[in-house]
Amino acid sequence: MLIDTYGRVATDLRVSLTDRCNLRCTYCMPEEGLQWLAKPDLLTDDEIVRLVRIAVTRLGITEVRFTGGEPLLRPGLVGIVERCAQLEPRPRMSLTTNGIGLKRTAQALKAAGLDRVNVSLDTLRPDVFKTLTRRDRHKDVLEGLEAARDAGLTPVKVNTVLMPGLNDDEAPDLLAWAVENDYELRFIEQMPLDAQHGWKRDGMITAGDILQSLRTRFELTEEGSTERGSAPAERWIVDGGPHRVGVIASVTRPFCSACDRTRLTADGQVRTCLFATEETDLRAALRATPAEGADGTADAEDVTGSDEEIARIWKFAMWGKKAGSGLDDPSFLQPDRPMSAIGG
Ligand code: 5AD
Ligand code: SF4
Repeated sequence: MLIDTYGRVATDLRVSLTDRCNLRCTYCMPEEGLQWLAKPDLLTDDEIVRLVRIAVTRLGITEVRFTGGEPLLRPGLVGIVERCAQLEPRPRMSLTTNGIGLKRTAQALKAAGLDRVNVSLDTLRPDVFKTLTRRDRHKDVLEGLEAARDAGLTPVKVNTVLMPGLNDDEAPDLLAWAVENDYELRFIEQMPLDAQHGWKRDGMITAGDILQSLRTRFELTEEGSTERGSAPAERWIVDGGPHRVGVIASVTRPFCSACDRTRLTADGQVRTCLFATEETDLRAALRATPAEGADGTADAEDVTGSDEEIARIWKFAMWGKKAGSGLDDPSFLQPDRPMSAIGG
């Protein structure tokens, strides 16, 4: 198990498949993009599948979420999903994507064994979308969402970040649209993970603001707390149901004490938290695989690069997971990697 000193057990693995993206959301990336990871530094498809296998078979991971950057930009994505779906026990698998290109791949992803998608969409207005993401692709996202729903990648969740003066007046419209289209909307408070380090707490749209705005048009009833579990979204039943809306109050009501995540960057580093300032290298161990058989499945303990050793490094990394994000600490330091290079 991936247990830490606070007794939390990580069962949810987030795997970033690339740090690249075809959008430039202002809360994430600068206009000119970033210095992308070099190809040799990225894990190969085989290496990713091997790490997921170790996580699932030795470390108690039951849920795998593929993220980016934009994971649909990874050529091997469908194959990776297909191979991970064959693992025993089979993990539940989902994808966090901006939706561009999903129209083309939704069916294949479903057939490969993907269970669900989370699509990021912050606005229903194409002009605001263009300002926010610096790309004119609103239509592609809407089409991607429909394709995902039609392919049965359900429930399709939509992640929305509200920003003052840009889209903060859209919460009720977004919810009406989501209800009508059978998407589950989740608002996420903006976190200090932008590459430009421009985040300010003042003026941030809080969960409280969002609920207040939604209640001008909808009746929201809190879902029983037992149903929340370790999921970060607090969910409300909309107008008596069956639709629900989630609010992820990462900043104003952090859920660190119930966190069940472990993260893997596209270059093979374990991160214990979005806000971790340290990482643990698994890639070096992976690539140190000695002559123990091409599939790297040697069981002997202490063999460099064996599954056993990689599992041990991963466990040790998670054991040192900090209690919280530290966001409320005056000494809080934003991590060096921006969101796009960590994975959401
Ligand atoms: N704060 C909150 N959410 C963010 N996302 C990206 N950057 C931030 C941020 N700074 C969201 C994206 C996507 C998911 C991966 O995280 O909109 O839905
Ligand atoms: Fe791309 Fe997601 Fe970052 Fe937007 S938030 S630029 S879609 S990685």
